[in-house]
Amino acid sequence: MTRTTTPRRDDAGSRQSAPENRSRAATAAYPTKNDLPEAARGEAVALLNQRLADCIDLQTQCKQAHWNVKGPTFIALHKLFDEINEDVEAYVDLIAERIVQLGGIAEGTVGVVADRSTLLDYPLALATGAEHVAALSDALAAFGRTARVGIEEMNELEDADSADILTEISRGVDKWLWFVEAHQQGG
Ligand SMILES: [Fe+2]
Repeated sequence: MTRTTTPRRDDAGSRQSAPENRSRAATAAYPTKNDLPEAARGEAVALLNQRLADCIDLQTQCKQAHWNVKGPTFIALHKLFDEINEDVEAYVDLIAERIVQLGGIAEGTVGVVADRSTLLDYPLALATGAEHVAALSDALAAFGRTARVGIEEMNELEDADSADILTEISRGVDKWLWFVEAHQQGG
């Protein structure tokens, strides 16, 4: 799988394309007694699968930073990045399980995520704390923006519960962005 430094949303790779994946996900796959209208559930599933891909990508980026950071601030950043990873893992689970509650299929494989994530690829050659702080704060900010777009989308579909989940997630991501960005401030 070829990873690039540009958003891969519209990449036409050898894997099944993201648009195909999105259209397949636009219909809820399973019947449910959940009283949200079926059409709204189908749209919510497709949109939430997009956020799921972004969130799984964010989680891998937290680990990439956790493993590779070096320098005098190593231990603080190594631990911080792992704490962020743990919370992001919980956000992934919240989004995926909401998709399934709505009758959809959570599409969280590495192949789908590589095709569908809208986050920039995490640079592999970073080493210093300042470099990882800059890169991970970029990723957290980008994901926070997509989560807020998701809140608006769920509000338009009148799915208050999915909007609430994304609100909880965006609140957490904003907190972690503060923790990371603080390393660039006050100096
Ligand atoms: Fe570790």
